[in-house]
Amino acid sequence: MHALTIASGRLEWSTRPDPIPQGSQLLVRVRSAGLNPADLLQLQGHYPPPPDVPQDVPGLELAGTVVEVGPLARRFKVGDRVMGLVGGGAQAELALVDEAVALAAPAGIGWESAGGFMEAFATAYDALVRQGGLTLGARVLVSGAAGGVGTAAIQLAAAAGAQVTASARRMEFHDRLRELGAQRVMLPSDAAESGPYDLVLELVGGPMLSAHLGQLGTSGRLIVIGVGAGRRIELDLSLLMARRAGIAASTLRARPLFEKAALVSSLGERLLPMLASGRLLVPVAATFPFADAPSAYTRLGEGGNLGKVVLISSG
Ligand SMILES: NC(=O)c1ccc[n+]([C@@H]2O[C@H](COP(=O)([O-])OP(=O)(O)OC[C@H]3O[C@@H](n4cnc5c(N)ncnc54)[C@H](OP(=O)(O)O)[C@@H]3O)[C@@H](O)[C@H]2O)c1
Repeated sequence: MHALTIASGRLEWSTRPDPIPQGSQLLVRVRSAGLNPADLLQLQGHYPPPPDVPQDVPGLELAGTVVEVGPLARRFKVGDRVMGLVGGGAQAELALVDEAVALAAPAGIGWESAGGFMEAFATAYDALVRQGGLTLGARVLVSGAAGGVGTAAIQLAAAAGAQVTASARRMEFHDRLRELGAQRVMLPSDAAESGPYDLVLELVGGPMLSAHLGQLGTSGRLIVIGVGAGRRIELDLSLLMARRAGIAASTLRARPLFEKAALVSSLGERLLPMLASGRLLVPVAATFPFADAPSAYTRLGEGGNLGKVVLISSG
């Protein structure tokens, strides 16, 4: 098979042996694979993959067709269309996905949307619902709302009956974010006077964090998921004390399989029907053929994307 590989900070389209599915793994012929900022970090040598995935083949999410199953796989069979959440190795012609972190791709969903669903929606669901305890009518701020995770989070929070505020620095995306479910859309510069919020999903980090912490309401929670704009801030802890507020933070990639399996199971029960019915959308900003992956990485790195950048196979 061919796989996108990272060698000395460069992307190459390399030849690799076909993987062999073990245990409950599926061998998937990849039709599409969403890009994530983690791929850019890995390319720059800043985000080593967990030990149980191919070390030089990037990619955290994919969609494709099952071509072989391991001896213990029970849920899927050859020919099934699946979407998978993996710790690496998705950006290849063939990829291994444990069936515990695979979902059936709904029939009406095209490959480009299916390939960009898992990482963004798993991250947003985990942060809002499992860590943030999202409740009916909660006042939610999504910071960095126009990207893959942000557009997923707006839709999930709106579907859960929250009052959603989206913060996005590009005005040209504001109308689309309203269409996805945000009741209010603002520029990041307006955040300091915009609260109070019960839940803030922080996808930007850096200077935004201080402004957003100042807008937490009583018992509010700020969940840090992205720190692309900076990871260090000076923090006035009395702000948190006075409001009995809290900060949580997490990453998804390095979690053990059983934890990812529980998360993917929740996605299957709760989100898959909404994806199948069209109530949840995967906005795709651009697609690129695998052979043109460097252009896709450049596009993601430049920003200005409403939703996902997705690699598509020509097969
Ligand atoms: N913890 C985890 O497990 C996990 C999982 C997935 C993602 N993440 C992280 O979460 C963040 C969002 O991921 P994503 O997939 O949604 O990325 P994305 O599609 O690249 O979107 C990022 C969004 O943030 C905006 N943004 C970036 N820097 C900004 C700044 N300084 N001020 C205001 N807005 C800014 C971007 O706007 P422009 O288009 O204008 O640049 C874009 O709309 C990333 O940092 C990613 O690494 C973490």
